[in-house]
Amino acid sequence: MRTYRLCVLCAWIAAAAALVYLLLSAPVASAQPPADKPVSFMEHVAPILKENCFACHDTKKQKGKLDLTTFERLMKGGNQGEPVVPGKPEESNLYLFMAGKEEPIMPPKEAGGLLKPDKVAIIERWIKEGARFDGPTPQADLAAELRKRWQPPTPPAAYPFPSIVRALTFTPDGKKLVVGGYHELLLYDIESGKLEGRLHTRAERANAMLFLPNSKLLVVAGGRPGQEGDLRIYNLDAQPTRVDGEVRIWNGVDSQGGVLVRELLQTDDEVLSLALSDDGKRLASGGCDRVIRVWNTGDWSLQQTVENHADWVFGLAFAPDNKHLFSCSRDKTAKVWDLDAKESVVTFPDHQNPVYGVTASRDGKLGISGGEDNQLRFWNATGEGKQVRASGGHGKAIWKVLLHPTQPWVLTCSSDGTVRVWNADNGQQIRSFGGHNDYIYALAVSPDGEMVASGAWNGEVRIHKIADGSVVKAFNASPGLPTASK
Ligand code: HEC
Repeated sequence: MRTYRLCVLCAWIAAAAALVYLLLSAPVASAQPPADKPVSFMEHVAPILKENCFACHDTKKQKGKLDLTTFERLMKGGNQGEPVVPGKPEESNLYLFMAGKEEPIMPPKEAGGLLKPDKVAIIERWIKEGARFDGPTPQADLAAELRKRWQPPTPPAAYPFPSIVRALTFTPDGKKLVVGGYHELLLYDIESGKLEGRLHTRAERANAMLFLPNSKLLVVAGGRPGQEGDLRIYNLDAQPTRVDGEVRIWNGVDSQGGVLVRELLQTDDEVLSLALSDDGKRLASGGCDRVIRVWNTGDWSLQQTVENHADWVFGLAFAPDNKHLFSCSRDKTAKVWDLDAKESVVTFPDHQNPVYGVTASRDGKLGISGGEDNQLRFWNATGEGKQVRASGGHGKAIWKVLLHPTQPWVLTCSSDGTVRVWNADNGQQIRSFGGHNDYIYALAVSPDGEMVASGAWNGEVRIHKIADGSVVKAFNASPGLPTASK
């Protein structure tokens, strides 16, 4: 992963996530093979290869012409031929390089160097025991097989730590708020502020979510960082699996629970962004694989895949004509793609920093974007994509940029702890909401345009009336944790 200014934060997220994982997860299968049974390729060897080798030896990169992503390709080897001689680790390059007994050592120094001896010993033992394969077929994609075998933990009844809020959305009737938690979606009643439902998910976290028009169908993009990503549709009208006091519990991990109605996508890393066209006919997603996918919401066929960015796709928005798609990326650009002509129309480079949020102006003529440079930038969505204006104000990174559904307003949220409302026509700031004392990642406007909800790093969710800035509700969306603010 490339480092950027948030790396201190990343370390924090990783540490917190690891802690939460350790404390919350059901006991996971030990990575150490038992002494009295042969080493299992799928259980013990494949995870080591995936964690430490796929970065350079996948189908795309194939360093040394070696692709380790299936058992068949692993055994075939690369430039130097078969890397595994069953029964003979001392003749197997796979072991010799990993043990540092021969050059080049693997992983190479620049990638962290040799693994711990216990990992290397697993490889040695597996080869010595005959290098047996216990997966479904030698051609099976190992990453996909490992995902199949992985079972998500059940979210804890009470969270020991706050869970970072990365995504939230209002229900179509504007009465409830869905908030992304730890391996679950949390349903809150806005008037009472009470938790009413918990929908367990395979994804560790939700990064983006939206309701399909006039329905209880919720599209959620998320995943497990560096491990997997998914895009799934849940039906909130489904019967809960059980009811715990006043809280309905749904099993959305697999389709047996009835609440998970469709899986649109499974990838090797997180899905980060979503957008729905105004006519409701197209859904777009973007993520760490840099690919933007566009679905037909009629039959859920994949209409188009767009490889227009060189890095993670953080934000997406459709123009009102339903055929121009705005996107922004860690590659420091925002772009416009013409879905009919299937070509890139505009690239806006002025942020010169990762761009996290983007939207289109009401007439579709302007792109409006924000990111790591703290500026809200307005730019022409045609021609050369020249900047029209930049609005300063946010003291830290801007994470989301939303167009208000009825007024000529743009809403933003930022690491500076504020939500701001801007005039979309002249870029002037109209209002700023405080109250959060942490980075704000998630932002949503109610369907009637009256309220804005924001979610922060420390789990706090605040709902404000946009017209006068009054607080509708504030609570911590981490079940079992006390609420810090009103
Ligand atoms: C940072 C990138 C990187 C990582 C990570 C990495 N390798 Fe490599 N690997 C290379 C490069 C580059 C070569 C080609 C080196 C050469 O030919 O001198 C190579 C070559 C090899 C070869 C020889 C292939 C051939 O036939 O020429 C083997 C075997 C190998 N790697 C195994 C591994 C294993 C096992 C891991 C994980 C434990 C791993 N590598 C992790 C970059 C990497």
